[in-house]
Amino acid sequence: MQQKIIILDFGSQTTQLIGRRVRELDTFCEILPFNKFPVGDESVIGVILSGSPYSVHDPEAFKADLSQFMGKVPVLGICYGAQFISHTLGGRVEKADSREYGRASLETVDTTSPLFKGFDQHAQVWMSHGDTITAIPDGFKVIGSTKDVKNAAFSLEGEAPVYAVQFHPEVFHTLQGKQLLRNFVVDICGSRQEWSAASFVDTTVAELKEQLGEDRVILGLSGGVDSSVAAVLLNRAIGQRLTCIFVDHGMLRKNEFRQVMDDYQELGLHVIGIDASEKFFADLKGVTDPEEKRKIIGRDFIEVFNGEAKKIIAEAIETPSGAIGGACRWLAQGTIYPDRIESLNITGKVIKSHHNVGGLPEEMNLQLCEPLKWLFKDEVRRVGRQLGMPEHLITRHPFPGPGLAVRILGDITPEKVRILQDADDIYIRGLRAYKVRLSGDEARRVLAAGVPADMHDGEIEVSLYDQIWQAGVILLSSVRSVGVMGDERTYEHPVALRAVTSTDAMTADWAHLPYDFMASVSNEIINKVRGVNRVCYDISSKPPSTIEWE
Ligand code: XMP
Repeated sequence: MQQKIIILDFGSQTTQLIGRRVRELDTFCEILPFNKFPVGDESVIGVILSGSPYSVHDPEAFKADLSQFMGKVPVLGICYGAQFISHTLGGRVEKADSREYGRASLETVDTTSPLFKGFDQHAQVWMSHGDTITAIPDGFKVIGSTKDVKNAAFSLEGEAPVYAVQFHPEVFHTLQGKQLLRNFVVDICGSRQEWSAASFVDTTVAELKEQLGEDRVILGLSGGVDSSVAAVLLNRAIGQRLTCIFVDHGMLRKNEFRQVMDDYQELGLHVIGIDASEKFFADLKGVTDPEEKRKIIGRDFIEVFNGEAKKIIAEAIETPSGAIGGACRWLAQGTIYPDRIESLNITGKVIKSHHNVGGLPEEMNLQLCEPLKWLFKDEVRRVGRQLGMPEHLITRHPFPGPGLAVRILGDITPEKVRILQDADDIYIRGLRAYKVRLSGDEARRVLAAGVPADMHDGEIEVSLYDQIWQAGVILLSSVRSVGVMGDERTYEHPVALRAVTSTDAMTADWAHLPYDFMASVSNEIINKVRGVNRVCYDISSKPPSTIEWE
């Protein structure tokens, strides 16, 4: 049975990060709403209680039923999780005189406690709380204190011990946080650390075979990493009974449709590529409002996709149990874990539907198959590598469904798309070609994201492209400015370059690209792309800006 850690989410911004850290320990984990502990699930080997925006004294504070797991499996409470344990079991939680926020060091740490095995005295930890625990429950003992926080860590030893820490081990600034989580997950909970890309592929392929039987499956490909990995995984499980549909709306990157189709062919996928660009351009003619553009593209996409899907379904019914399999009952999607966590609030209600979930008519009667629904983005990339997919498909930046349409401010014409494709192509090729050397934490962060680079003497060499989350060019098509080329006056459009660093696209910072790189890209774009005479760089973070301009 696959072991798992349950993380009960009390609404902290760092809950997902706890999940990632546990996965980095090759251990499967599930993030569930605070009140949804899976009672009776024998595969649970430990429980982590997250932080929360609430105080335990708030009337609306979230509460879990500790008796469902305490005494049965080891428990670790983090921040609010620690305060909740203390408050519920008879300790005392009070408003701190001043909010405890930022770096602190553990003045005393009990390294005989299994939680602090291998810890240094004075280890740096990260605090972020307004309440503080002034008395711990009976039977517990203090195992770590900072100058200001006496009960920074406490425990109840036993068969199924309980640990509580007021600091955040999951964040980078708690320098031995990973060690603490390793101590908990591996030593205390007894994880066998069997969760790996290879084990995921084996188990998922077996499960898909079982789940799908002789059925046929339709999958919408976007050229992005998630849908491509989902397709290759399904192909491994059911071969040619998987039919993929890839719609070209005419606003992909330069030559992308052709290149991606070639890649898919190499991978042995059965893909129907549909060039529907004329329809999209016709329907978008004269439309300038960003939301209107999105709506038209979404509607047209569903229309084209559904038209093709219907044909596939009809074919399958005509040839039941033929060589290519039985009826088509499934729609597969490359939905990944953060898409689903974002879509749930912690009471389990949907607050934001996923960008890419199209509406399929009910009469098609298809069930959803989402083989990557438990994975984080870097894990999807690892699975892709495990499946032998080419590196350029795996490390591809995220790209919005409506494509370059949301990067052309103003109405859309094939000529504007051509200008933007040419500028974007120069920029992206430049990012791939420019290599930087990284060391220390920067290097470790890139390696942790799964980018294949070897470390030599503490340094790695990676491209700018691999170092950043997402990049693209924006065409300000309703603006013109004056320039001079040779002896000629020009009156053309500006473009803006965008490059951001991020881990999940929820927040993002503008990437600090080297000046020499920006200078050469700017030169090349202005010299080679007819229609552009000025290049700017976008230095806005998200929030308050967004990654895309529309
Ligand atoms: P924003 O602009 O909201 O983007 O900061 C966050 C991430 O989502 C992508 N994005 C989209 N993806 N359909 C998509 O499939 C869309 O309409 C869309 N809008 C933004 C964006 O590229 C970034 O990765």
